Amino acid sequence: MMMKYKQPRRAALRHGFLAAASIAALFAGSANAGEIEVLHWWTSGGEAKAATALKLSLQKSGHRWRDFAVAGGGGDSAMTVLKSRVVSGNAPSAAQIKGPSIQEWAREGVLANIDDVAKAEKWDELLPPVVSDIMKYKGNYVAVPVNVHRVNWLWTNPAVFAKAGAKVPTTWDEFFTAADALKKAGVVPVAHGGQNWQDFTTFEAVALGIGGADFYKKALVQLDQGSLKSPTMEKVLTTFKRIKDYTDKNAAGRDWNLATAMVIKGEAGMQIMGDWAKGEFLAAGKAPGKDFGCTPAPGTAKSYTFNIDSFAMFQLKDDSKIAAQKELAKQIMAPEFQSVFNLNKGSIPVRLGMPMDRFDDCAKTSAKDFVDTAKSGTLVPSIAHGMAVPSAAEGAIKDAVSQFWNTDKMTAQEAMDKIASAAKTK
Ligand code: GAL
Repeated sequence: MMMKYKQPRRAALRHGFLAAASIAALFAGSANAGEIEVLHWWTSGGEAKAATALKLSLQKSGHRWRDFAVAGGGGDSAMTVLKSRVVSGNAPSAAQIKGPSIQEWAREGVLANIDDVAKAEKWDELLPPVVSDIMKYKGNYVAVPVNVHRVNWLWTNPAVFAKAGAKVPTTWDEFFTAADALKKAGVVPVAHGGQNWQDFTTFEAVALGIGGADFYKKALVQLDQGSLKSPTMEKVLTTFKRIKDYTDKNAAGRDWNLATAMVIKGEAGMQIMGDWAKGEFLAAGKAPGKDFGCTPAPGTAKSYTFNIDSFAMFQLKDDSKIAAQKELAKQIMAPEFQSVFNLNKGSIPVRLGMPMDRFDDCAKTSAKDFVDTAKSGTLVPSIAHGMAVPSAAEGAIKDAVSQFWNTDKMTAQEAMDKIASAAKTK
C-alpha cells in the first residue's frame, strides 16, 4: 500500500508543481487514501484538544478521519452505541475500548489482528507488559494503547483553600477537616457529578486510601466475597457516603468537566477525579502548582490506580480502510503523538523511555509513581474505568454503589450485600 502512495508524490515533485505543504492534501485526495471512522467519547475541552491531535496525526499521512464522537464521560453511552453498530454489521474502523472489554470484543471474533504493525514498530519492547497484555488476545495485538491516566487524584483550588484556611489533605480525616473549613468559607467543598462512574471514581479512591492496595485487589479486582463483606469494606462505605454531605444539591447527573469547572472558577474547593481533569484546567489556561493543585487522593500516595486508553481495531474489508487503520495504530505509538496528545489529555505517555521534560510536575509525579508502584505491588487497575472487572459485573457493582450513594436510608451493611451479589453477575 505504501508504494501506491508514493506514485502521485513522485510525479508531483518531478513536475515541480507542489510545495511540501500541499503534498498531504494530494494524498488525501488520492484513490488509495483511506477513511477511518473512529469512535471515542472525548468531547470536553481538554479531551477534544487531545482528540484533535490524534486526528491531525492521521491526516498527515494522507488518510481521512471520520469522527464518531459519542458524548458522555467514562464512555457508557459510547459503548451502548458501539454495540448497536456492531450488531447491525456496521462497526467503525477503530473504537476506544479498554481493559477486559477488549477481550470480550475479541472473543466475538470482530477485532482485527494488528501484529504486523506491532512487530514493525517493536511494541513489545516499547510497552510495559502490564499494558501489552491488555492489548493482546491469544497473543496477538488487537488494540493499541494511547496513554496512562492516573485515577486516584485530588484536584484543589489553592486560592480557595487559602481563603478557607484549609490544608490540602493527605488522609481521610484531614479530608473531612478541610471539607468543614471549605464549607464554613461558603464554597462547595467537593465538586461532584452524580453519575455512576463518577460515584465509583470516588468510591475506589476511598477503598484504596482506607483499605490499601491489597484490600483493593482482593475485594474489587478478585471480587472476593469475604473482603466485600468485611469490616474494612464497611468503613470504606461509611467514609464514602460521608463525602456526599460536602457536595452540592445540583450534583445529580452533572458532567465531570462541569464539576472540574467549579474548582477552576473557585466555586468549589476540590474534586476527586482522574487526570483528564488536568486537561480541563490546562484548556482553561490554568497553571499547575499555581492555579490548581494535584495531590494523590487521601491515603493513596504510595499507590496508583491506572486507566489506559486504547483503541481496538475492527475487521474491515476495504484495502484503503485497512491501510488507514494500520497507519492510525502506528501513529498512536509514535513519539511525537505520545507527547502532544498526553500534554493535552492530562495523562502520561504509555510508550517507555519517553522524555518527560515538556511535562508538568503532576505528570512527572505520575510517571515516577507508575514505575515505583509497579515495583512495590501497589499499582492497581481502575474498576470505575473498565480496567479490572468483566463489563457485566462492573456495571452491576457500579449500580449498587451509586444506589447506596443516592439512598439515604440504605445502611452500609445492606450496601455490602448488594455489592457482593452484584459481583457475581456474569
Ligand atoms: C475515562 C477515559 C478518559 C476520560 C474520562 C472522562 O474513562 O479513560 O480518557 O475521557 O473517561 O471522559
